This record gives sequence, structure tokens and C-alpha cells, in this order.
Amino acid sequence: MTPKRDERTSSPPSGVDPNTPSIARVYDYFLNGRDNFAADRDLAEQVLKVAPNARTTAQANRSFLVRATEAVARAGIRQFVDLGTGVPTSPNVHEVAQRVNPEARVAYVDNDPIVLVHARALLSGTRSDVITIEGDLRAPKAVLDHPELRAHIDFARPVAVLLVAVLHLLTDEDGPERLVETIRDQMVPGSYLILSHLWDDPDGVARAGADEYAHRKASAPVVPRTTEEIRRFFDGFERIDPGLGHLDQWRPTEDMINAGNDDRFGLCAVGRKP
Ligand SMILES: C[S@@+](CC[C@H](N)C(=O)[O-])C[C@H]1O[C@@H](n2cnc3c(N)ncnc32)[C@H](O)[C@@H]1O
Repeated sequence: MTPKRDERTSSPPSGVDPNTPSIARVYDYFLNGRDNFAADRDLAEQVLKVAPNARTTAQANRSFLVRATEAVARAGIRQFVDLGTGVPTSPNVHEVAQRVNPEARVAYVDNDPIVLVHARALLSGTRSDVITIEGDLRAPKAVLDHPELRAHIDFARPVAVLLVAVLHLLTDEDGPERLVETIRDQMVPGSYLILSHLWDDPDGVARAGADEYAHRKASAPVVPRTTEEIRRFFDGFERIDPGLGHLDQWRPTEDMINAGNDDRFGLCAVGRKP
């Protein structure tokens, strides 16, 4: 289905370059969202030619985010930090967490101007339980020490940090391992890491898709990683059941099993700091 153009994006908000494909907006297109421009849609269609699974992987990823957030909320977590939020897509993290615990607090962090505009309008707005912060994950200390984040989230109590479909947008030089270590060091025991990542599949499909992003000079590089490289992000965490696996294999719902959902292009897990 071709998404309709949204009024909100017909004239770009200030700071938004509609001609440079944005990872957040391409992902929005794959999720059938409306906050994307022609350059994003052109790149997305090009990626689909070499990686026809890209749309179902994006959808499987978002579904993992929802199931994992709900599981962690049910485990008693009331504070969530969603790093690399993406364009708002319902249900958002606070909607899922607050279904379980109406008092859950959420901080959204991203560096994409269109994400920030829509997140501030649709997610945080004037409410006090949800905030949106501009932050670049390549500077993890600045993100975690942000005064607004510190005022909203109490790191002396357990938190859940989401790094869902975002670490593959950081090159090794950008320091994804340093980011995860910085997060882990801030966490008290009983905190959770919810993480998914584009998998470097043996057939090279993810790499072919990644080459298209590089070729079109998208807003960030795409770096698929091997199982072992992704597993290392969980050093210092205990992965809760069922451990590290493909997106649709993480606690699938009955509907997913009946529908035969079986995406094989992303890996994910939820870690608990012991
Ligand atoms: C593929 S989307 C994933 C959105 C959401 N986490 C999900 O899984 O549905 C990745 C998001 O990470 C953001 N992002 C990429 N690099 C970033 C960086 N260095 N700092 C902050 N956010 C970043 C993008 O702007 C985009 O919104």
C-alpha cells in the first residue's frame, strides 16, 4: 500500500531537509506512516528491490518493541528511556507501559528534527509523565547527563533503556559498545536493556540494503552485525527468556504464530542487569 502524503510534511518544519533521505522517515514509510518525503520513498523503494523483506522486518521490529516493553513493565519497571525513538507510531512506548502501569514515566531521545517535532507534538506535549529530548547517541555521556533526563528519570531506581533498531545506525567508530557500557554503568541492578539490531544474514541481503542507504547518502549509515557482535552488546546483562533470537521468535503472540510470522533479518533480546 502506498502511504498518502501527510499535510504535516507537505512543507517541512525548519531544520528538516526533505532532499536528504532520513533513516527515521524511511522507517516510517516501511511502517506505512505518512511522515516521509519523495527522497525517503525513493530510497525505500530502492532498498525493497534488493531487500524485499525490509518492510516486514520493520514491522516485526516494531512488534518486538511492543511485546518487550510490555514484558518489562509487567516485571515492575516504571521508568523507560527510549533512545532512537523514531517518528511516533502507535502504540508508542508510554502507551504500552501505561496500559500495565498508568504511572510509568518515559523519556524519548532522538536526533532527527522531524522525529523531535512530531514527538513533542504527539508524545510529550504538555503532559508531565513523558518528555522528548534532543540527543546524539554518539555522545552517550551528554545524553545520559542531560538535565531534563535526570530530572525525569531516577537512575537510583530500576529503569528500562530501549535501543531498538538504532545501534545498526552507529558505525564501530561511533562507539555503540561505549554507548551500551555507559548505559549499563548508570543502571542499578534489576534494570533492563531492550535491544534489536539488523542481522548480517549469511545471504548478504541486509548488506545489500545497507549499500543502498550509503549510495543515496542517507542521514546515517546502516551497519548490519553478526550474531556474535550483537551478543556482545549484552555483556554484563543476563538475557531473559528466550534469549537472543530473531524478532518474531521473541515471545510471539498466538496471532503471530497462527499467521506464520517468521522474520529472519533482525536479532533481538532483553537483558537484565544482575
Ligand atoms: C529505525 S528508527 C527506530 C525507531 C524505534 N526505536 C523503533 O524501533 O521503532 C531509528 C531511530 O534512531 C534515530 N537515530 C539514528 N542515529 C541516531 C543518533 N546518533 N542519535 C540519536 N538518534 C539516532 C533515528 O533518527 C531514528 O528515529
